[in-house]
Amino acid sequence: MVSGVRMIKNRYPLRFTLNGEEKSLDIKPGISALELIRDTLDLKGTKEGCGIGECGACTVVVDGKAVNACLMFAAQLDGRDVLTVEGLGEDDALHPIQQAFIEHHAVQCGFCTPGILMSTRALLEENPQPKRDEIVKAISGNLCRCTGYQNIIGAIDAAAERCRENKNRNK
Ligand code: FES
Ligand code: FES
Repeated sequence: MVSGVRMIKNRYPLRFTLNGEEKSLDIKPGISALELIRDTLDLKGTKEGCGIGECGACTVVVDGKAVNACLMFAAQLDGRDVLTVEGLGEDDALHPIQQAFIEHHAVQCGFCTPGILMSTRALLEENPQPKRDEIVKAISGNLCRCTGYQNIIGAIDAAAERCRENKNRNK
């Protein structure tokens, strides 16, 4: 009974927006944003690689910025807007970034891909027409050990162009 009371006390109320939906839940204090996303919320698109901020597999977008979810406490998401790879496209259509990765053969095993897609999303929101060196910098924290970066950079360049076209079309 005493431990039950402790369990209730040891929960942290968290409210944030995830992929456009309001979330309100009680979490264990001290869990990482990555544990929250993958284990508590069961969104497995965000990958766990190194767990220490080195590989970028866990990249998500928080308030428009690409961050390593393994390095954040879940409690730090309170009041923030979070986008994971599950929220990138529409239910019935891939996001132009995802489409460009397919067309440019920028995916092999796919483990790094959600993280790179999210870094790209953050880049293109801030800079719709990135130069090559800006693309390289934006994905410098995302390690890929099988595709090769030429195809990935080509895909990001093509995605940027497609996003600009879509934006102009919708004006
Ligand atoms: S799992 Fe977060 S950077 Fe590697
Ligand atoms: S596609 Fe395999 S690690 Fe990047």
